[in-house]
Amino acid sequence: MKITVVGAGAVGASCAEYIAIKNFASEVVLVDIKENFAEGKSMDLMQTASLNSFDTKIIGSTNDYSQTAGSHVAVITSGIPRKPGMTRDELIGINAGIVKQVAQKLIDYSPDVIFVIVSNPMDTMTYLTYKSLGLQKNRIIGMGGALDSARFKYRLSEAMNCPSSDVSAMVIGGHSDKGMVTLTSFATRNSIPVTEFLSADRLEQVKQDTKIGGATLTAMLGTSAWYAPGAAVSALVHSIVCDQNKMFPCSVILEGEYGLSDLAIGVPVILGKNGVKKVVEIKLSDKEINQLKESAQGVLSTNNILKEMNLI
Ligand code: LAC
Repeated sequence: MKITVVGAGAVGASCAEYIAIKNFASEVVLVDIKENFAEGKSMDLMQTASLNSFDTKIIGSTNDYSQTAGSHVAVITSGIPRKPGMTRDELIGINAGIVKQVAQKLIDYSPDVIFVIVSNPMDTMTYLTYKSLGLQKNRIIGMGGALDSARFKYRLSEAMNCPSSDVSAMVIGGHSDKGMVTLTSFATRNSIPVTEFLSADRLEQVKQDTKIGGATLTAMLGTSAWYAPGAAVSALVHSIVCDQNKMFPCSVILEGEYGLSDLAIGVPVILGKNGVKKVVEIKLSDKEINQLKESAQGVLSTNNILKEMNLI
């Protein structure tokens, strides 16, 4: 199976690396607008193949989308990342036009492709891709919830002093500091509720640290994170390409599920070879439902900017 990753910056290169290391794809095409940049990153990654024992072929391309033809999945990381102190929403002015153009070029060469959207503001870029291409909604998936959930598990494992692999937990809602809904009521350590291990105050701290997970790293690194975003993307792509039926919270187009419609926002979904197989509707508490609705309001108001920009 062929996977395209657009944007060979830190996030895109990390996606390509993790996909290759997992060795489930025959080919990864890395595309960038900067002359020879994707080719260079691809060559560097290919020189790790014998060391990391993978057979996936990684090819770089400077903006030549004909090389992406026949991709099963295309990951869009294009645009600019956050700088310290910025919100993800502030990137819309630059990133929206770029994402729209890139999505169009990808579909021209791979009419059946499934999109995984990473560029920020991620929920709005997912909605933009859906609206501008008019594709079936199962083919457009925003990555945020998978990343935010991994960060939640990390913070929970830190608080409980246990490995992340002991923890099961999800973050739904928008991929923004204010919009994330950390589902502590469903969070467990080997099926035991985390409330058995953590005080209410400690759990509250975990929730706050999770929500600012991206901003914390942006302040430390001077740009947005890339390892966990790349790993999150590779997990989603793996479930699609290998038809694994794994469940992740992802940003998907809703048509009435959770009482929400005409937007993309993070909810649990099952991912298989055709993309979103099912939106899983879990019974949330009134408080969690209200948090999700409030988060949706935030996403909807960012989506409105797309109309002001005449992009949808
Ligand atoms: C982050 C970016 C990728 O949260 O949105 O790190």
